[in-house]
Amino acid sequence: MPDKKIVEARNVVKQFMGERVLDDVTISIDLGDKIAMMGPNGAGKTTFVRSMLGFYHIDSGKIQIEGLDPIKSRTKVLKEISFIPQLPPPVKLNVAELLEYVERSSDTPSSRIAEEAKAMDLDIDAQMQKPFFKLSGGMKQKLLIAIALARKSKLFVFDEPTANLDPKAREHFYKLLSGIDYPHSTIFITHRIEEVEGLANRKIYMDLGKVVEDERL
Ligand SMILES: Nc1ncnc2c1ncn2[C@@H]1O[C@H](COP(=O)(O)OP(=O)(O)OP(=O)(O)O)[C@@H](O)[C@H]1O
Ligand SMILES: [Mg+2]
Repeated sequence: MPDKKIVEARNVVKQFMGERVLDDVTISIDLGDKIAMMGPNGAGKTTFVRSMLGFYHIDSGKIQIEGLDPIKSRTKVLKEISFIPQLPPPVKLNVAELLEYVERSSDTPSSRIAEEAKAMDLDIDAQMQKPFFKLSGGMKQKLLIAIALARKSKLFVFDEPTANLDPKAREHFYKLLSGIDYPHSTIFITHRIEEVEGLANRKIYMDLGKVVEDERL
């Protein structure tokens, strides 16, 4: 049986102000692929994953998430993906409201988020009335991780998720990730390959908007 295709990106070109930020990018992701995506600052990694999520219109080429166009079927596509952005979004809701929102929009019980938060050493009960944007950088990250894991998605996209985490929190995160007990795929953007050793089974290296290396580990 062929592997189940989760992402099909073919010959993707994306320009910003006349500059080719994605230059003929072709990446195909099967269920079970755990990708470490690497490359220098400005290589186009964030632009690629944001295009996959339908945040950007691409100039040419094609992107499909489980056969769906991420722009035309945005809501459906976003339901399938847990995304942690490189910079936490400036959410004004307090933590309780945010959990309610996630529960309503993605059928994720807040009790499950609280469990994951606890596993990340985040005392969520003490933070309920605080606006999300007033949490510390690491606390925001932990909460976003807890939400991402609780959603039990098929595809996880983490854009440098550990930048603000202390070493212990990083350990917790890797442990939780490796403990996911159902078929899924992960794109993990990182500058430190040693970070994802043991978690990744594929490495994609980008430079100047191109995939310059794509190898199984
Ligand atoms: N919204 C935008 N408008 C204009 N230019 C953009 C925009 N987003 C990204 N770029 C440009 O696209 C190029 C690639 O940026 P991108 O954020 O994808 O890089 P990256 O590989 O994620 O880098 P980093 O490791 O620093 O996060 C950069 O030259 C950046 O300035
Ligand atoms: Mg980036």
